Amino acid sequence: MGAELIATTATKKVYRDGDKAIKVFNEDFPKAEVLNEALITARVEETGGIKVPKVLEVSVFEGKWSITYEFIEGKTLKQLMDENPEKLPEYMDLMVDLHLNIMSKQCPLLNKLKDKMIRQIGDIDELTDSIRYDMHTRLDGMPKHTKLCHGDFNPSNIIVKDDQTMYVLDWVHATQGNASADVARTYLLFCLQDQKKADMYIDVFCRKTGTAKKYVQSWLPIVATAQLSKKRPEEAELLHRWANVFEYQ
Ligand SMILES: Nc1ncnc2c1ncn2[C@@H]1O[C@H](COP(=O)(O)OP(=O)(O)O)[C@@H](O)[C@H]1O
Ligand SMILES: [Mg+2]
Repeated sequence: MGAELIATTATKKVYRDGDKAIKVFNEDFPKAEVLNEALITARVEETGGIKVPKVLEVSVFEGKWSITYEFIEGKTLKQLMDENPEKLPEYMDLMVDLHLNIMSKQCPLLNKLKDKMIRQIGDIDELTDSIRYDMHTRLDGMPKHTKLCHGDFNPSNIIVKDDQTMYVLDWVHATQGNASADVARTYLLFCLQDQKKADMYIDVFCRKTGTAKKYVQSWLPIVATAQLSKKRPEEAELLHRWANVFEYQ
């Protein structure tokens, strides 16, 4: 492959080959998850009104599955935030607008966020039955919506082209559900990196939408608990702290 390596994670590598971005998954990566990512992305693509890299091909080579996407030329919003800290308020504003555009869409064939969270909460061995029960009760009490939720909306999944148009990548966690849960997740993802950015994000979102901050915050214990199912040691302490907040409310 005459391709340039652009990103590496524990489970995959991303290459650029001309106008294509090729995500090559490790040999032991479940093919169902690869096909799921391609399917979800295709569904979002069909929804229209959101700029996403198109899925061009799914293939397997020497035992490794890959998804070929349209390559989007530009910098990630994360890079831009790191390079131009003085522009942070402007970037946060754009990021919230982009999130609002996603939430304004419906994608009825995606899984329900609530079902996914129930599954995730069930997958965490270290939770006691009473915490698990409390989480389910809490989740049941939350308003049910069917808004498109990205599931991993953070600046490394946004590419800004030179003409300032913004593309959203990495739709594998997308579901339909309550948009405030998706905002709470973005808040948590920021918290894991930088509390100041997290606060800016939630503030801008709440101001623009007239949402009470307490309402978004009421999702945090549930979202943090669900995130624990990813079993990332570096996130454990903070997530446990958030997950336990509900006991004192
Ligand atoms: N279609 C694409 N166009 C340009 N860059 C891409 C594209 N897909 C992925 N990348 C780059 O690779 C990185 C990782 O890809 P991503 O889909 O976010 O996977 P993950 O975060 O799960 O590793 C992105 O942050 C981006 O820099
Ligand atoms: Mg990503």
